Amino acid sequence: MIVKSQGIWLTLAQDSEGPRCGAAMNDLSEAKGQALAIQGDRIIDIRAAEEIFSLYESDQILDWGNCLVMPGLIDPHTHPVFLATREDEFEMRNLGKSYVEIALAGGGIRSSVRSLRSATEDQLTDLVKERADGFLALGTTTIEAKSGYGLSTADEIKSLRAIHKANAEHALDFHPTFLGAHEIPDEYRDNREAYIQLLIDEMIPAVAKENLARFCDVFCEEHVFTVEESRRILAAAKNHGLQIRIHADEIESTGGAELAAEIGALSADHLGAISEQGIKDMRDAGVVATLLPGTSFFLNLAKRAPGRKIIDSGVAMALATDYNPGSCHTQSLFMIMTIACIHYGITAAEALTAVTVNAAHTLGLAHDRGQLKVGMRSDLIGIDAPNARFLPYQFGSNPVRHVVKDGRVVS
Ligand code: NIG
Ligand code: FE
Repeated sequence: MIVKSQGIWLTLAQDSEGPRCGAAMNDLSEAKGQALAIQGDRIIDIRAAEEIFSLYESDQILDWGNCLVMPGLIDPHTHPVFLATREDEFEMRNLGKSYVEIALAGGGIRSSVRSLRSATEDQLTDLVKERADGFLALGTTTIEAKSGYGLSTADEIKSLRAIHKANAEHALDFHPTFLGAHEIPDEYRDNREAYIQLLIDEMIPAVAKENLARFCDVFCEEHVFTVEESRRILAAAKNHGLQIRIHADEIESTGGAELAAEIGALSADHLGAISEQGIKDMRDAGVVATLLPGTSFFLNLAKRAPGRKIIDSGVAMALATDYNPGSCHTQSLFMIMTIACIHYGITAAEALTAVTVNAAHTLGLAHDRGQLKVGMRSDLIGIDAPNARFLPYQFGSNPVRHVVKDGRVVS
């Protein structure tokens, strides 16, 4: 297959070890009038269109006109396995209740748990596949996908199996995370220690034994799991070969970022209330900050992650949707880039680096995707935009016109 476009090509291909931080987040490599040759699921060449056409023959030539071409987007933090939506809570918040108040009254994550438990694995698989269509149509070709609305061994396994089935049956790539430590379920509210013990003694070993997740995550937050509890859960996960990501310091600063550094997490996420020490520790340990500006926007939180400061301190930043039924109900990384630019004071180039190269790093996939480069996976998108700065500047509509995933036209 050959793809050509007269428009801008964002290859994001300067070589660098590790995730991009500081000034390197602003380095975009742009070219014009390129074409790209694909064999199977790999990019085999990329150069001026006329050269590609003199070197390769193909019976499948895609002419993307004046579209801007870039690597498929990577969303490194999503919660796509849920049954019921929670638009009632959105309205309650808009009329004055807070996210934490709703959660402590039994709504929030616990209401999603009650509904997910009534769903079958097949029902969840179908829902996840429908949601996967949504991601692909918005230019996202790889997602990290968490469980976390089951909170019993059987319901967490059911959720992770639904992710695996969707992954096998759908073009979108899923990288599963076990998030049994998302909340204390109703039946353990009076005995949280027993739930933590269940996570450590039964759930994590069961997930690892069936190879159901690559990562383990914990919601480390004042009203959910303490730093000490999170440390125990994540240590057990590490012992079972899972890699670590953490929901850290979203609403209150409790030392989640520091814990991410201490434990060698791939990523610490949210960070709305991160401390000075947390920023330093993450930089020194090389933990990527995955910021979720859609969530602080959707919850209308006054406290937002200090995105500009995080980049200027030398911490690599990624961006994600946090797609979930409660705190952020969007699948659009374009919308997320717009909010990030406005609320963090960052450039289009920084936002683009955050949803490609750096997002790939948090998933241990940077050798394979996140750039248009020979040898990388043939995941690419064509966007109706004249230049890179236009991408976060447009918002509220879908600018994606073409999607190729693993060398196949999917959207
Ligand atoms: O990342 N913070 C924890 N989990 C989700 C919220 C999930 C929910 O409200 O259902 C988040 O914001
Ligand atoms: Fe989340």
